[in-house]
Amino acid sequence: MATERTFSIIKPDATRRNITGKIIDRLESAGLRVVGQKRIHMTKEQAEGFYAVHKERPFYNDLVSFMISGPVVVQVLEGEDAIAKNREVMGATNPKEAAPGTIRADFAENIEANSVHGSDGPDTAKTEIAFFFSDGEIVG
Ligand code: CMP
Repeated sequence: MATERTFSIIKPDATRRNITGKIIDRLESAGLRVVGQKRIHMTKEQAEGFYAVHKERPFYNDLVSFMISGPVVVQVLEGEDAIAKNREVMGATNPKEAAPGTIRADFAENIEANSVHGSDGPDTAKTEIAFFFSDGEIVG
């Protein structure tokens, strides 16, 4: 498997509880390297644009409100098979279904406040990285 990059968000429920370091430790311990990182407070427009794919879903408005309820940490992660590896370490979207030892099983509050986001494939990884990072902000 070639070296890949994926996009990651540490969500407002996690920044609020001051557990960003614990989450980054899980990612790094799994072999993922943080090559881009910034703490931001998303605007409503950014959150709406980022999650535009979910626009028709019943949870969309609540999701946008949640994502702008506090700061987030946006990250570019690099490593072998990074997209799948990140998803494995995060666990299922719903913490009730997440495997033991995953970030969401251990830290998520509920299906919305689920502590982390990760790209679901190579195309989304590319789009999502470009949504928040310019080339000069990624240092491998
Ligand atoms: P994320 O991986 O960032 O992708 C979409 C987000 O919508 C998801 O994590 C959750 O934070 C949120 N969400 C809220 N309700 C649902 C739901 N019923 N199904 C999927 N995602 C949901």
